[in-house]
Amino acid sequence: MVSQTQSAATASPQPADIVMQMVMGAWVSQAISTLTRLDVPDRLKDHGPQSVQALTQNLGVDAKPEFLERVLRACASIGLFSESADGRFGITPLSEVLTSDSPMSLKKLTEVFGASWWQLWGGLENALRTGQSQPIARFGMNYWEYCLSNPREMADFAAAMKANSLNSMRGVLGHCDFSQAKTVVDVGGGAGHLAIALLKQYPHLQAVVLDLPELISIAQQNMQGQDETITQRVKFVGGDMFRAVPEADVYILKHIMHDWDDAQCLQILKNCRQSMTGDGRLLCVDAVLPPLGDTQGTPAKFLDVNMIVFGGGNERTEEQWRELYAAAGFELIAITPLQDNFGTSIVEGKKAKSSSPRVCVE
Ligand SMILES: C[S@@+](CC[C@H](N)C(=O)[O-])C[C@H]1O[C@@H](n2cnc3c(N)ncnc32)[C@H](O)[C@@H]1O
Repeated sequence: MVSQTQSAATASPQPADIVMQMVMGAWVSQAISTLTRLDVPDRLKDHGPQSVQALTQNLGVDAKPEFLERVLRACASIGLFSESADGRFGITPLSEVLTSDSPMSLKKLTEVFGASWWQLWGGLENALRTGQSQPIARFGMNYWEYCLSNPREMADFAAAMKANSLNSMRGVLGHCDFSQAKTVVDVGGGAGHLAIALLKQYPHLQAVVLDLPELISIAQQNMQGQDETITQRVKFVGGDMFRAVPEADVYILKHIMHDWDDAQCLQILKNCRQSMTGDGRLLCVDAVLPPLGDTQGTPAKFLDVNMIVFGGGNERTEEQWRELYAAAGFELIAITPLQDNFGTSIVEGKKAKSSSPRVCVE
């Protein structure tokens, strides 16, 4: 006879079990983010399996040992740590990606998700009811202004974006050919990570990173250690993409368009169109949502909800991208899906034949 415990374990999960697991994802997310902020994965990677007494007393983890053990035990139950009967916890392949020097480090992204973004997501209901941007509702300013007034958030967000970019950067380098390009402007290029990768692969190329003036010192720090063959070919420009963008034959906008509404995106794209030299190429790296009725799972759909929380932006379908490009005087010529954290694609455009941006009445 099958025991009750055995039959419960083999039965397929019921809807309530599945929903409970989804809802408890919020707790899991916060536990991961907290342990990561306390540098627990880093300590375990550097020193091997440890008890909570060793972590707190010898390795600088700022936590009450009895509470830390309970959080670690919960996280070990979902594969994030190993756990032994003598109370020592160790790193696993899952927590390795939460360490600082992991090649695919999710440490900073996880920390940002669990701190300021966690507070903002608490306002999703308010955003749905009122349409209000949650950084404005909670912090009294938009997220970029919040970053500007909190250097730690600015640095953490820039580091999160850099780490989050690894796969999408590989995708851009793998799928796009820059051998005929002269100058690439990375609009909202953050710490300059994509520009550096491009310059390494294409020794003839010049790059300009345009971002908010306050980000330039972070970007310049990011350049430390790069050799002269790179530093001499990259320029950091502190500016405002809504006013103007530097001249170039290729524009890259990675994870930019989804932050803004159509009118704002149109302004940015028109600025690119106006400053674009030669035949020109436009590469937006962002999500392309499937049309309504296509329920395929893609992280981009929740990223789109994140845009409701932050206010103003949204992810777009292919049709929406085509309309936006056409309105700015571009023709959408290819969409290349990438294997990255948020399921983004390269949305490639060239100057439209009619050549001038459509005049829009807003
Ligand atoms: C989501 S991040 C993307 C960063 C980078 N492209 C990447 O993918 O890692 C958006 C970037 O846009 C920049 N940004 C926001 N407003 C801007 C403006 N008005 N002009 C230029 N850059 C701006 C932010 O500072 C930030 O670096």
